[in-house]
Amino acid sequence: MLGIGSDHGGYALKQAIKKHLEARGVAYRDYGTYSEASCDYPDYGRAVALAVANGECDRGILICGTGIGISIAANKVPGVRAALCGDCFSAEATRAHNDANILALGARVVGEGLALKIVDTFLDTAFSNDERHIRRIQKIEG
Ligand code: RB5
Repeated sequence: MLGIGSDHGGYALKQAIKKHLEARGVAYRDYGTYSEASCDYPDYGRAVALAVANGECDRGILICGTGIGISIAANKVPGVRAALCGDCFSAEATRAHNDANILALGARVVGEGLALKIVDTFLDTAFSNDERHIRRIQKIEG
């Protein structure tokens, strides 16, 4: 199960990503927000991060205007590695090297076409399982 969430700034892109996930046959749960009314990105960043941390979801996607605030909020939850990506190279590398479990996107930064490619790259790239990357991730957790 994939968890998805956004604030009002990411709402329209979230709707496009949900449509894309449906076309790909990827099951998801939407943790809000459910309209373009102004709201607070930490609420949705935390909701998806908790769902990933407690195993309700295996991965997540978070969107706000820049992707910055919502990724900062998500990364406060232990066990979460949220990566803000604006290109496919970063999305591939963060899965392979960091085993990122949440992708963050900035709806005011990337266009829809690029965002969907980044989503595909994130979903389709496996963790490398390389010993040195495992060691570094363990150091992040402290
Ligand atoms: C909301 O206006 C905006 O601040 C938010 O979407 C995000 O960019 C925060 O980091």
